[in-house]
Amino acid sequence: MTGKDSGTEWHPASWCSRTAAQQPSYPDQAELESTVAALSRLPPIVTSWEVDALKGQIAKAQRGEAFVLQGGDCAETFAECTSENIVAKLKILLQMSLVLLYGLKKPVIRVGRMAGQYAKPRSADTETRDGKTLPSFRGDLVNRSTFTDEDRIPNPQMILRAYERAALTLNFVRSLVDGGFADLRHPEYWDLDWVAHSSLAKDYREIVSSISGSLDFMETILGRELHHAQRADIYAAHEGLHLLYEQAQTRYLERRGRWYNLTTHFPWIGMRTADMDGAHVEYFRGIANPMGVKIGPGMTRAWLQDLIRTLNPDKEPGRLTLIHRFGAKSIEQHLPDMIAAVKETGSPVLWVCDPMHGNTETTADGVKTRRFENIVAELESAFRVHAAHGSYLGGVHLELTGENVTECTGGARGLTDNDLARAYKSTVDPRLNYEQAMEVAMRIAGLQCGQPLRHR
Ligand code: PEP
Ligand code: CO
Repeated sequence: MTGKDSGTEWHPASWCSRTAAQQPSYPDQAELESTVAALSRLPPIVTSWEVDALKGQIAKAQRGEAFVLQGGDCAETFAECTSENIVAKLKILLQMSLVLLYGLKKPVIRVGRMAGQYAKPRSADTETRDGKTLPSFRGDLVNRSTFTDEDRIPNPQMILRAYERAALTLNFVRSLVDGGFADLRHPEYWDLDWVAHSSLAKDYREIVSSISGSLDFMETILGRELHHAQRADIYAAHEGLHLLYEQAQTRYLERRGRWYNLTTHFPWIGMRTADMDGAHVEYFRGIANPMGVKIGPGMTRAWLQDLIRTLNPDKEPGRLTLIHRFGAKSIEQHLPDMIAAVKETGSPVLWVCDPMHGNTETTADGVKTRRFENIVAELESAFRVHAAHGSYLGGVHLELTGENVTECTGGARGLTDNDLARAYKSTVDPRLNYEQAMEVAMRIAGLQCGQPLRHR
């Protein structure tokens, strides 16, 4: 095994002896320490039984019996932690999952990039504007995007504010779900106001009425209500980037004899922090949560096998999800090798395709965007390559919003570079808007004209 000391004793701060990439540098260490100590005394955001339930669900997806829909903002922001935004995000995830359930004929596991997606990796530590250099914006958990000394200097208080926003968000999501918002019998609750004007609305309404019809039929046959069909759980996920935040809410549960990260159900390791010898892999190997690892074009067979052995030494079902993000142009070149490397380990993994992060480009005006056709092309290749290699693509990871933004080009409305300025709100990466996200779901489900994404 490469990966230094992977067999040695683990504790929530054992990562501190490794190099931790992408961490902010805080000017006031004493304030940082007291903030982290305060966070560690606060109640958890999620519970271990929910975390274990998700692990069980992911194990099902690994066996090909379920499909994971993971989606949300690139970066959540404090300003967008509003009732409308949370409802809109929940609606789009639920609507997409309904379409996927209908098309794939499998349970869909819904995982939001939400309730903690506040820390971002950056390609440079600093940013220079008009001769002035300041720390890069690293997400609302760390600093603010406005370009002033005061806002860009990492502030430990933001860690607590992020924890609070995450808890508020998940609290509201749980209440909506418990109150029947996600009831499959009432998908009309989920309609967004402007879906009425969308060219996809007709297809969506047909799906909804067909699902309602099927539920009625099954209940008539069974003579009872289908309770399981009625509740739609939503799990929370974020990149486990800021290790002090993750560490502070990592608890040992006596009953289970394991450590859990209770800031989220599903943390993932980003592409920039997956070094075998780095602090993130050290931290992640000790927690019991199901976890993701982003796999980009720089990944090698040996590195991937080391990651699998270190993060899942007992080959535990449901534990490890590999989220590949090669880009439409490189996926065919890289994915077959990765599939072969995983097979050699004999370890169960869930394969998920992130068709966003390998397809980011910058327009002539310097705006970050992604083209809908590249996103769809990468997904199409992903389904095809997995099928050709006897492997199951069990999920999709998307950056999306329930709002009508203009950040990605293309899709049913044919947005162009000229439309981007109209409603570009993301502080980091461009997201699919409501309609583009629905279109991706319909394409995966094989319900839209155009080339089918899945080859059955
Ligand atoms: C992200 O998911 O927002 C991200 C930064 O992804 P990656 O680590 O794959 O670049
Ligand atoms: Co992103």
